[in-house]
Amino acid sequence: MTIDGKTRTCGLIGNPVEHTLSPVIHNTLAARMGHNLVYVPFPVAEGKVADAVKGAAALNLLGLNVTVPYKSEVIGSLQDIDPLAAHIGAVNTLVRTEGGYKGYNTDMEGLYRALESEGIRIGGEEIILLGAGGAARAVAYLCASKGAERVYLLNRTLEKAQTVASEVNQAVGAEVIVPMALGDYGRLPERRFLAIQGTSVGLFPHVEEAVIEEKEFYQKIHTGFDLIYSPWETRFMRLVRENGGTAYNGLKMLLYQGIIAYELWNNVKVSEEDAMAVYEQMRAYFQ
Ligand code: ATR
Repeated sequence: MTIDGKTRTCGLIGNPVEHTLSPVIHNTLAARMGHNLVYVPFPVAEGKVADAVKGAAALNLLGLNVTVPYKSEVIGSLQDIDPLAAHIGAVNTLVRTEGGYKGYNTDMEGLYRALESEGIRIGGEEIILLGAGGAARAVAYLCASKGAERVYLLNRTLEKAQTVASEVNQAVGAEVIVPMALGDYGRLPERRFLAIQGTSVGLFPHVEEAVIEEKEFYQKIHTGFDLIYSPWETRFMRLVRENGGTAYNGLKMLLYQGIIAYELWNNVKVSEEDAMAVYEQMRAYFQ
């Protein structure tokens, strides 16, 4: 592309940012869609998030993504916040508005689109969700707000599962989330479930770990979706497959959170053809 006087800049703030795939997503989209836009990573030191957002506004950056560890901290620097992001308490996308930036959470809509693109339903379903940290809490909220019948929230620390369940149930006004200890999966109803893996267990380099090992658990799963995409096949995914289920990693969630951010920044709709072309570019990094 040619960078000229009209080129708009978007970027990523976080720490670290060196291994991000987001530039692949946004620069590929800009090239395919003919937008005069560049996307670059900005490492932001601890305590400097507010300065970074202020500087971005002063430089008229079109938009920013926000990654670990600033997704909650950045909320204090926003002009406005989308209600979904406010409920979740985490923002991963900033969109330039007149007075500053408006914050969104496209991670969760990204997960929803990734599930949809694989033909996986949430509405009316009974779902197992592993974990009760920041990521899993957001997934619990997503499932409840998209009409899941029930979400069995299994976590190592039962108290954390209980806290998340009561917060999310209160927010949606229904008893959708059922907190359980990890070891209590034997009490789940006799049937097979969609299971979403939302803990950090199995993330590279700890590729030989899964939050639950027993095959009796995996026999209860028809579809497993791991939010992790590095390694390409997590141990959780392998155990799902070994017990007859279908398994997906989190790369499409990463893809669609980026696509939704790109749509917000540029006020466009990205076609599935463009989305799949970006996905192929991203996949190349795992071969
Ligand atoms: P994230 O932002 O990625 O969600 P987090 O908030 O630190 O990260 O949450 C990590 C999740 O992984 C939690 O659900 C945690 O369980 P606890 O609430 O009991 O701490 C889970 N987790 C991390 N290491 C684990 C392990 N070795 N065994 C089981 N669960 C683990």
